[in-house]
Amino acid sequence: MTSSVREFSSDEARAKFVYKYFGFYHEKFADFCWFAQKEGKSLGYCLGAPMTDSSFFVYQPHLEVFNDLYEVFPAHLHINLHPDSQGLGIGKLLVEKWEEVARASGALGMHIMTGVDARNKSFYLRQGFTTEVVRNYKGNPILFMGKNF
Ligand SMILES: CC(C)(COP(=O)(O)OP(=O)(O)OC[C@H]1O[C@@H](n2cnc3c(N)ncnc32)[C@H](O)[C@@H]1OP(=O)(O)O)[C@@H](O)C(=O)NCCC(=O)NCCS
Repeated sequence: MTSSVREFSSDEARAKFVYKYFGFYHEKFADFCWFAQKEGKSLGYCLGAPMTDSSFFVYQPHLEVFNDLYEVFPAHLHINLHPDSQGLGIGKLLVEKWEEVARASGALGMHIMTGVDARNKSFYLRQGFTTEVVRNYKGNPILFMGKNF
């Protein structure tokens, strides 16, 4: 519901997309998958990994363009809330929890990637992701936002 990609050419293409953004992390980094729910309703999730290395590039090739930044900002997260749950402060709670777990793992910092004109940029700035780097992947700019611990 929150992705710009909503239609898939086949079930296989959809499964590949789900693995890229969910299964990959759940399989390898289950301790870094956090879900918010209330009275049985899913509100959103925050997931990722305490580090980022070349083993990620097979599924997420765009990560390679920021390879030199992972030493300082190793932990990598994705967050998405159900549209009914956006703008209520739930994202802040999820990122705070996720950061706590990332810090406990020994990571020195964390990062996210988003679009250069994405509305969520102000959210990340408020959560302390103040290092901004823009690089192109296949002709499209990607905004990297990092936070040191
Ligand atoms: C970005 C997101 C995780 C923030 O969590 P949240 O609980 O809504 O955030 P808060 O209530 O603490 O703060 C509100 C801020 O969230 C962001 N936000 C709220 N709704 C949003 C939406 N539909 N799309 C993108 N960002 C949104 C804005 O930065 C907003 O600040 P603003 O009011 O100054 O524009 C959540 O809104 C979301 O899942 N948005 C859609 C998907 C998305 O952008 N995921 C991140 C991909 S990198």
